[in-house]
Amino acid sequence: MSELINSVKDTIKIGDEVFIPLLTEDQIQARIKELAAQISNDYRGRVPVFIGVLNGSFIFMSDLIKWVDLDCEIDFFKLSSYGDAKISSGKVTLLKELNCDVTNRDIIIVEDIVDSGLSVKYIEDLFAENNPKSIRLVTLLTKPGNRKYEVKIDYIGFNIPNKFVIGYGLDYAQKYRNLRSIYVLDENAGI
Ligand code: IMP
Ligand code: MG
Repeated sequence: MSELINSVKDTIKIGDEVFIPLLTEDQIQARIKELAAQISNDYRGRVPVFIGVLNGSFIFMSDLIKWVDLDCEIDFFKLSSYGDAKISSGKVTLLKELNCDVTNRDIIIVEDIVDSGLSVKYIEDLFAENNPKSIRLVTLLTKPGNRKYEVKIDYIGFNIPNKFVIGYGLDYAQKYRNLRSIYVLDENAGI
């Protein structure tokens, strides 16, 4: 039998920076079950299309739909707004388009995190052209303290402080997405 790797870590050091635990695997999984139950209830009798925003949402999407008790479809599209580090470029580019026809469908956008709101604003404008029957947004995390664009979020996993986080799909320069917990930059470390 192979050994269990990728074990739970107390802190993660990346260069001079230190990340500390913010949300445990158990907390995340418990909240996801609640969100899935709520969505299943709200969409009873309908066949929604869950549309994940790559790359960040791929783990959340996969865990969420396992607990959704409905016939549903999934698709992904890919946006880029963050460049490669911790600061948003402030620009959104569409890197992979949707493959399904959303006309007259119930759409549920699946995001890892809503930060400034720019990506969600871009998505809403994109979908408005395609006449879906309804659009709702589920995000695992949101940083309400950094909102620059007004967005309506229908299902929120956790409100978190306006600090950089990694893990559970969220990256730092494309790494650390595979952590099962979520870690936050410790701004007091090293002072
Ligand atoms: P927004 O357009 O500013 O709302 O940012 C949305 C995207 O930026 C998210 O979907 C994430 O991919 C990324 N992002 C925002 N905050 C963080 C963070 O703290 N860590 C990693 N990625 C983040
Ligand atoms: Mg994202």
